[in-house]
Amino acid sequence: EKGGYASFMLKEIAEQPKAVADTLLGRIDASGSLTLDEVRISAAELREMDKVVIVACGTAFHAGLIAKYAIEHWTRIPCEVELASEFRYRDPILDQQTLVIAISQSGETMDTLMALRHAREQGSKVLAICNTNGSTIPRESDAVLYTHAGPEVAVASTKAFLTQLVACYLVALYLGQVRGTKWGDEIRAVIRDLARIGDAVEQVLGTMEPVRELARSLAAQDTVLFLGRHVGYPVALEGALKLKELAYMHAEGFAAGELKHGPIALIEEGLPVVVVVPSPRGRSVLHDKIVSNIQEIRARGARTIVIAEEDDEAVVPYADHLVRIPATPTLLQPLVATVPLQVFACELATARGNEVDQPRNLAKSVTVE
Ligand code: M6R
Repeated sequence: EKGGYASFMLKEIAEQPKAVADTLLGRIDASGSLTLDEVRISAAELREMDKVVIVACGTAFHAGLIAKYAIEHWTRIPCEVELASEFRYRDPILDQQTLVIAISQSGETMDTLMALRHAREQGSKVLAICNTNGSTIPRESDAVLYTHAGPEVAVASTKAFLTQLVACYLVALYLGQVRGTKWGDEIRAVIRDLARIGDAVEQVLGTMEPVRELARSLAAQDTVLFLGRHVGYPVALEGALKLKELAYMHAEGFAAGELKHGPIALIEEGLPVVVVVPSPRGRSVLHDKIVSNIQEIRARGARTIVIAEEDDEAVVPYADHLVRIPATPTLLQPLVATVPLQVFACELATARGNEVDQPRNLAKSVTVE
């Protein structure tokens, strides 16, 4: 049932272009607008919302962190993202005008379920983003937008994460559409870009051999750091989480701007640091800043592994290893930038002799608080 792959994880990584396409299927009409009929929260109610709160755990939480950038940029509605396990214990401010989005692959994560129950008790509407039909979280929510990743067997989430991102983008764009925000044309352009993104993911998958080789060469390392900015920051967190859970290595993700506030003290000769570089187009200020960050860590001995878009020449002099990804609109970049990090973690774990589908101490769905 692994379809010729050595692990479910490798199979699921390979299935990502299809998972992304399936999650978009039937949700964009011929005119390029979104038809999310399944979101059974009326347009009138969605127009009343003055805040979005996202609750999730682990990888789904990272999808939520990325969603915040998209929701706030496209809709101008303030959005908070919180670890589901922390949420209800701090007496969060919730009311009928708060849209709560609960993201969960399994639909059975107890922390997320308890958070959404708490939100509904306060009168908020809950929209679930879920991959498992009929599971508890969608059953207890007001509405659900299913991701169509198909069953995810490996404990480490890969294709579910990409489809969670797609679903989050759809929700953000849909909110923009029903609320008629000033981003109308931009929204239509993004919807077109989103419809093409599966091809970009496919392209990345076709160029992963050097990443595998690099991963194998790092099998004896103790630590790998990950840096990113903007939506690349949650991608860095996700890369570090994958490495922890699969390779059992010390891995940490940082916002690159935080380096000088402490983490740069960790940099020493030969330390591998993966840097997710934002597009050189668009938000170019961020791009320039991260290039300086790469210079700074390299000057202190770091071995830089740079993930950058194919037309980005500025990073070349400072990259010990360069991983190219297709040029993608900034907010959508996580869909392509995450893929090399998944492959990297999977290969590194395998090189260390670990069982990638069933990492130690972990379960696929965490049904206890
Ligand atoms: O089923 P869920 O999406 O609610 O699961 C949330 C986390 O337990 C999950 O993403 C976990 O972090 C993964 N093992 C990460 O790869």
